[in-house]
Amino acid sequence: MFNDRLLQTLRDAQHLVILTGAGVSAESGIPTFRDAMTGLWARYDPQQLASENGFRANPALVWGWYEWRRAKVMQSLPNPAHRAIAQFQPLVPKLTLITQNVDDLHERAGSQFVIHLHGSLHEAQCIACAKPFALNATPTVISESKRVEPPRCPACGDYIRPGVVWFGESLPLDGWHAAEAAAQNCDVLMSIGTSALVYPAASLPLVALTAGAKVIQLNPDKTNLDAKAHFNLHGKAGDLLPALLQAAYAQ
Ligand code: APR
Repeated sequence: MFNDRLLQTLRDAQHLVILTGAGVSAESGIPTFRDAMTGLWARYDPQQLASENGFRANPALVWGWYEWRRAKVMQSLPNPAHRAIAQFQPLVPKLTLITQNVDDLHERAGSQFVIHLHGSLHEAQCIACAKPFALNATPTVISESKRVEPPRCPACGDYIRPGVVWFGESLPLDGWHAAEAAAQNCDVLMSIGTSALVYPAASLPLVALTAGAKVIQLNPDKTNLDAKAHFNLHGKAGDLLPALLQAAYAQ
């Protein structure tokens, strides 16, 4: 099923970087962003829902939408792809897991030290003074278009915003620096379930390539990375990753 050179590349890896995108959570029922019909951006305007201007223009619409996504993530379970990624961790000398996802399914599958480049649905802070805000444990929103007034900051009174990175915003610096350093120092980078369209995250496989690492891509569809990756696995992460783990590391 898998190319011997691919399996040997994994077995010889000293520092494996795994970069994931929305596709790794698709089989848990979490919509991706750009899949033609089901993708969130096929149904919603990203500028209206994932930008500071959009939030300022309609705080209740945006807050309600993120509370709906948080509720959906809390009702979802990690899938075989998340679990396989967690099982890679003890099998390689060093693994750095970098995700663009704002869900916590990697952690719930047992992965540790996950670098979240685009923030988390489970965090929130004041839009003005950035004071962290504790979200209530169970979001009450069940429908995706329910308007919910955002809470106010107890310190300065401005709106509380979701702890995710919106378009036009820079990534959390510590996470980005750690991700970039890992891509520069790894010998294998595996890109899983991302359309490789959103920068700077999409530059990480290119950083690894420039540093001489082998790049493996896993995605049912072709992306811009296909032409550059050493190995392209076309299929679902939940099917391919457990099989790859078995083929590469089974005793
Ligand atoms: N297994 C693996 N890959 C899958 C699966 C699956 N089961 N299902 C879909 N995919 C692939 C799609 O083919 C697509 O290439 O996952 C990719 C998802 O791409 P996007 O929806 O663009 O998501 P992502 O790359 O994570 O987006 C990056 O864009 O909207 C912003 O901040 C948001 O973090 C997000 C960033």
